[in-house]
Amino acid sequence: MIAKLIIDKKREGRALGSAEIREFVNAFTSGEIPDCQMSALAMAICCRGMTERETADLTETMMNSGRTLSWEGLVTADKHSTGGVGDKLSLVVQPLAAACGVFVPSLTGRGLGLTGGTADKLETIPGYNASLSLEDFDRVVREVGVSMTVQTGEITPADKKLYALRDVTGTVASVPLIVASILSKKLAEGAGSLVFDVKCGGGAFMKTKEEARELARALVAGAKAAGRRAAALVTDMSAPLGYAVGNANEVAEAMAVLECREGYEDCGGEVGLCVELAAMMVSLAGDIELDAAREKCRERLADGSALAKFKAMVVAHGGDLERFSKILERPRSKFRIQAMRSGFIGAIDAEKVARVAFELGAGRAAPGESIDPLAGVTLAVKTGDRVAVGDALATLEKSSGPDGLEKCAGELYRAFTIVSSAPERSPLIIERI
Ligand code: URA
Repeated sequence: MIAKLIIDKKREGRALGSAEIREFVNAFTSGEIPDCQMSALAMAICCRGMTERETADLTETMMNSGRTLSWEGLVTADKHSTGGVGDKLSLVVQPLAAACGVFVPSLTGRGLGLTGGTADKLETIPGYNASLSLEDFDRVVREVGVSMTVQTGEITPADKKLYALRDVTGTVASVPLIVASILSKKLAEGAGSLVFDVKCGGGAFMKTKEEARELARALVAGAKAAGRRAAALVTDMSAPLGYAVGNANEVAEAMAVLECREGYEDCGGEVGLCVELAAMMVSLAGDIELDAAREKCRERLADGSALAKFKAMVVAHGGDLERFSKILERPRSKFRIQAMRSGFIGAIDAEKVARVAFELGAGRAAPGESIDPLAGVTLAVKTGDRVAVGDALATLEKSSGPDGLEKCAGELYRAFTIVSSAPERSPLIIERI
């Protein structure tokens, strides 16, 4: 194989052969092909695209670059979200699907950028080990029914190396590269059914419906081509999901939903979306009608079984929820912002809210940086709510002193649009794929 010729071929817009893709990517993973050549190929793919067959070859090569897991004999499913602001859905969806009898092996990520990832959120629970070995992951899934842990370096090392390169070479925004990256990890994880929540809007990776739809279709097609059952939702991410944006506050909100606590029955549509995603997992994995799966999920949420699964998973990962509740009571710096005019909340800009949460310490700029578990924003209102002058809009929080809180509060205020007449509330689910 001559790497330069393969780069030339893709630059000219021609489809690469399966062996060319396999040999190039394997040589990059083992270090025989240098970063500069892989970057050039990634850029050529960004500009010229890939056919479905090429994307499937790239996905398969990346999946096989490390260990692949198998759950023979178990009915398994997982959900993947492309990530959004206040997206704590996995903390509810995965235990809920498990409470319906589906085994959920969920390899998840740490956040990079504006907010934490699912693992960062779970790690705010004292003792929670989100870095299980694959052997312990296997044991927890079989014993409890659900485990959420960070994927180890043994899973898709090719993606790890390529993603780091894409991050610094302007080659993240390419549907075939995104599909291969996401799918290779999910396929290696081994779940038989996959549900994708592709977020769309200002607070998401995909800004427009068209982009989100294209990614959702490609993910579903790729997963099916690899022999898995798959479905996707394109969901709105123009405003934050639920009320909490941060880490510990998101876990607290997810637990309130699981506990069916008063005031958390809807959470701005968050609860309905959790039920829908869990129902899709149950329906695909168990081969039952979506309506029946939805009913089952609602029952398991209401009767406390989903909460019990979540608690059992936390205990199996070494977490201590009593100490977590004490953490939530810890003193911290707070600042409340209030409406300066009356009217209705017309919009809450998810990206602006995420930026403020990041500045407060809820996200990390580089891998390995620590995050402040208590930093974040908790909204007091949702789009469409009526407000009077002086009503609370949101609270900003962080563990350290009050420095910078007022400046962040000013930025956060600009995330809210207050209008004179009630806006239409748009549904979270935009499209089913
Ligand atoms: N998330 C991933 O895992 N990979 C991408 O390429 C983009 C988002």
